[in-house]
Order: sequence, then C-alpha cells, then structure tokens
Amino acid sequence: MYRTVADFTYDLEVWIGPAGDLLYISPSCSRVTGYEADDALRDPGFFERIIAADDFPRWRQAMDARGDIPSMDFRIRRLDGTEIWLAQETTRVFDPGGRFQGWRLSLRDVTDRVRTRMFLDQARLHLEERVRERTEELEVSRERYRALSGYLQDSIEKERGRISREIHDVLGQDLTALNMGLHRLERSFPTGDARQGQVAELRGLVAGTLETVRRISRELRPPMLDELGFAEAVAWLTRTFAQSSGLRIDLKAGPIPDLSAEQSTALYRVLQEAMTNAARHSGATRIDVRVQASGAALTLDVSDNGIGMPAGRPESSGSLGLMGMRERIRMVGGTLEITAPKAGGTTISARIPLAAEARPCAS
Ligand SMILES: Nc1ncnc2c1ncn2[C@@H]1O[C@H](COP(=O)(O)OP(=O)(O)OP(=O)(O)O)[C@@H](O)[C@H]1O
Ligand SMILES: [Mg+2]
Repeated sequence: MYRTVADFTYDLEVWIGPAGDLLYISPSCSRVTGYEADDALRDPGFFERIIAADDFPRWRQAMDARGDIPSMDFRIRRLDGTEIWLAQETTRVFDPGGRFQGWRLSLRDVTDRVRTRMFLDQARLHLEERVRERTEELEVSRERYRALSGYLQDSIEKERGRISREIHDVLGQDLTALNMGLHRLERSFPTGDARQGQVAELRGLVAGTLETVRRISRELRPPMLDELGFAEAVAWLTRTFAQSSGLRIDLKAGPIPDLSAEQSTALYRVLQEAMTNAARHSGATRIDVRVQASGAALTLDVSDNGIGMPAGRPESSGSLGLMGMRERIRMVGGTLEITAPKAGGTTISARIPLAAEARPCAS
C-alpha cells in the first residue's frame, strides 16, 4: 500500500535497507534524473554516479552517520548532462516491533529555488559592497568638506581683520589729515569770510565719514575682540546691536575665563548671527543673552521672544547662517543646540569645552 502511493509521487522516493542496499526507487526517477527506476535500482553506485563530485562526500558522510539525517541540498547530473539541485528529506523507518528497517528518502527538484537564493545572495553581497564603498566615499567627502569649511572660515576671519585694519589705519588717518588740513584752511580765512562756513561744512562731512569708516572697520572685526577680549566684545556688540535694531537686549554674563582667538571669534560670530536672525525672522521685541562658564564648559545662550523656528529643518533650506554657526562651534570642539522654550521664541545654545587652565576656579 505504501509502495503504491510512492509509485505515484511527483518527488523522487527512495528506500534504502539497513545495510545500505537500494530497495525501491519510484518511477518519477526518470522525470527527475533521466534514468529509468529499474536501471537505477540495479546499479549499486547509482548515487555516486549522479551526485556532483563536489557534493558526494558530504552526502556520503551524512548518510553514513548514525541517527537522524538532516535535510540537505546537493547537485546531481542528469542523464542528459544538465545539472539540477535536489533537496533531500530523510526518515528512519521502523517496523511495528520497533526494528530498524532502513531509510526513506524524499528528493525534490529545487533548482529554481537554489538559483534564486544564490542570485539573491550574490545581489546582497554586491549591494553591501556598494553601500560600504559609498559610505567610505561619503566619509571622505565629509572630512574634505569640514577641512574646507574650517579653512574658509579662518581665511574669511583673517581677511576681515586685514580689511578692517586697512580701513581703520589708512582711510582713518587720511580722513584725520584731511580734517586737520580743512581746519587750518578755515582759520586762514579772515574772520567773517563766507568761505569759513563752507569749509566748516566740509569738516562736518569729513567727521561723519570718519565715524562711518570706524563703524565699518569695527563691524568687520571688532578690535576689542583681539585687544580687550570676549567679554568686552560681547558688551559692545549687544549695545550697538540694540541701538541699530531698536530691540531690547539684556546681557547677563558671569566671569569669563581667557579664551583662545578661535573660541572667542566662534562665539562672537554665533552671537552676531543669532541676534541678526532674531531681528530678521522672529518678530521679537527682546533678546536675552547669557554667557556662563561652569565646570569644563562655556555656554552662550541667545533667546528671543519671537515666533519660533519654522517647522521642518530650516538648515536644509540652503541658507547659511545656522549652518555656519554649527560649523564654527564644531571647529572649537563644541556643540550647538536650537530649542523652542515653552514660553515661545527660540533659544540658540552654544557650548564649548574649556581648556583645563582656562576654567573658572571652583570656590
Ligand atoms: N530666531 C529665529 N526665529 C524664527 N525663525 C528663525 C530664527 N532664526 C532662524 N530662523 C529661520 O531659519 C531660517 C534659516 O536661518 P539662517 O540663519 O540659516 O538663514 P537666513 O537668516 O535666512 O539667511 P543667511 O544665510 O543670510 O543667514 C531662516 O530663514 C528663518 O526662517
Ligand atoms: Mg541668518
């Protein structure tokens, strides 16, 4: 009865006796292997003949093992020379008395499945390789971008300093000389001469121009940043910004330790950009600036009472202000955070690490 069922199976059914002798091979043998079942049954080396040489030792080893035989895939060469993959399920057979009768092998053609799996494995490996390559490329270009951005920030700062000094020294001195010349000219005219008034007017113009030149020079690179330090520069910037913007600016600064030129420039430019953004975009009426050194870090917080940052990621919109702030702070080893306080508005917090000797004494 068992045999009758096996005669009609689609898969290849094989029975092997306890001594390893072939007892039965189903007629589907000819469909699967190309060999007639009767021929196969008469051939004691049938499996060795059809299983691919590379796979046979593995198959043999599994079959010779005592106990259960795990499922396995292997290749066979069909009579027509083509190679296909078979999946083998093996069951140990016992008679009702519990005596071992041999093995039942059920073999299925799984060529399509194996080829698809191999193709997918190959594709996955290829994809992983590509991802690894792209990640490396990305890392390299990110490093380059950082180096370039650091270099650019640095050269812009130096160039601003140079132009600022040039304007201050050369233009400033020339205008002062012009003013003095005009003063002498004014006095050379007899009292009551109408030309005296004209020269005085010119002197007023020169004095105004001199003031503008000094302002431009300071705005390009405030000399106090280099000469008097960060605290003075911040006090000056918040004061002049309040005057020019009409906003109320409240500065609260604790004792600030000595900072390197890079650190003070980075923080100064962040403050400048954060206040400019608040004035330009937020509709705020007030800006609070806090500078505080605590432990190993110095924090600069700039909060406005405006409308708050737009939803989404304003930094990806192509504008450079926020990106520049982040870069500057990153270059001095710090971090920049943008938060939305509960009360509304926006807070920009820059935090930079302090060198051990620059930390305020804990007292
Ligand atoms: N304090 C703020 N309050 C509300 N929105 C802000 C604030 N600061 C920035 N934004 C928003 O974030 C965007 C990006 O700011 P960012 O400084 O990067 O660029 P920008 O000021 O538009 O141009 P720029 O490159 O000249 O700085 C702004 O366009 C604005 O929409
Ligand atoms: Mg901006």
